[in-house]
Amino acid sequence: MSDFYYSNGELYVERVALSEVAERFATPAYVYSRAAIEAQWQAYEHALSERPHLICYSVKANGNLAVLNLLATLGSGFDIVSVGELERVLKAGGDPAKVVFSGVGKRRDEISRALEVGIKCFNVESMSELERLNRLAAEQNVQAPVSLRINPDIDAATHPYISTGLKENKFGIPYGQALACYRQARQQANINIVGIDCHIGSQITTIAPFVDAMDKLMNLLDALNAEDIQLQHIDIGGGLGIRYRDESPPAPDEFIRAIGSAMNGSSYELLLEPGRSIVGNAAVLLTRVEYIKENGGRHFAIVDAAMNDMLRPALYDAWLAIKPVLEKSTAAAVKYDVVGPVCESGDIIGLDRELALAEGDLLAVLSAGAYGFSMSSNYNARPRAAEIMIDNEQMIEIRKRETLADLMAAETML
Ligand code: LLP
Repeated sequence: MSDFYYSNGELYVERVALSEVAERFATPAYVYSRAAIEAQWQAYEHALSERPHLICYSVKANGNLAVLNLLATLGSGFDIVSVGELERVLKAGGDPAKVVFSGVGKRRDEISRALEVGIKCFNVESMSELERLNRLAAEQNVQAPVSLRINPDIDAATHPYISTGLKENKFGIPYGQALACYRQARQQANINIVGIDCHIGSQITTIAPFVDAMDKLMNLLDALNAEDIQLQHIDIGGGLGIRYRDESPPAPDEFIRAIGSAMNGSSYELLLEPGRSIVGNAAVLLTRVEYIKENGGRHFAIVDAAMNDMLRPALYDAWLAIKPVLEKSTAAAVKYDVVGPVCESGDIIGLDRELALAEGDLLAVLSAGAYGFSMSSNYNARPRAAEIMIDNEQMIEIRKRETLADLMAAETML
């Protein structure tokens, strides 16, 4: 059974009714299912059990300490893109030896800290970064483990803002320059070449682009082997999509099988950097209808969550399902634009949703676990939402709602 379901007309997460969560913690609130997060991670782990592997959960999708701690306890590794994410992983009990560090703009202090704690590898995205890394490693008298992030020039057929593997994107080292870069890396005294990596985009719902990317990496591996440059791992990145509406992305096992067969029986350790597919469908954003109004023939439901809480519809035209927390007869349903209180017309949670609503009703915005809270902001001086983890019949406040004092705490007047 899904961890999100109706029982007697009420929407539940695991064994807790969402109306109870709202009563206890108010709205807006992100509500996670521990069981759902764990099940998705285990689906990957199970699919990978036949080969040497490491799941490096991509922290940017959701970096709450409780989420990271849960995954660390399961044995997960982590994909990070900043020293902030690194410190979160360490604080949550993550093993630095299972951390890969991606990103095109790693600062000196970020690299130094990662060298100091001994991460698994740097996913290096340019020759300048390689040189900087070599210099800093020499200063710290250590060897820097390196995987080059290759840009395979593959169209992942996803939203242009979240496509990363095309040659005109800023990410990675151009495919055609990869061999030369490995040769140069080999010359650097404090660089230890350990892997190869790519990440072609996010919310990818077909297998083909991943297989194409793996084929390209395998070709490079042949060329590297011919020059006696030996690697230990292949990192295929993240990007597996989830169902928001009517998508039918492959499940982790189907995905891993396809990737595995593209590896042609080789025994390299396989690394993955999934984010969305672990946490995306493991949370709802719980919100309350403040006002109902009609303007120019359109029905608006103004809710207490806004684009500062959930940016995806405004930024990517993303579609998220919106469900009533208490089921009602749909006899009085009309098409609502569900919008927030922020002073922007783009402050949209969902357009044209057939709902029967009254002021005060609770709504659940589904599939909100990835890039929801992590992309939230304080725009319009709105404190960020509470985050609640449901674990069976327990409600655990894993992040308190911000207070107005929190918002002003770091500021001073002239
Ligand atoms: N690895 C790297 C290097 C990445 O850049 C990303 C995501 C991932 C792994 C994880 O990808 P996932 O498995 O979550 O697709 N904010 C956007 C998504 C941006 C993804 C950025 N990179 C959204 O809300 O759709």
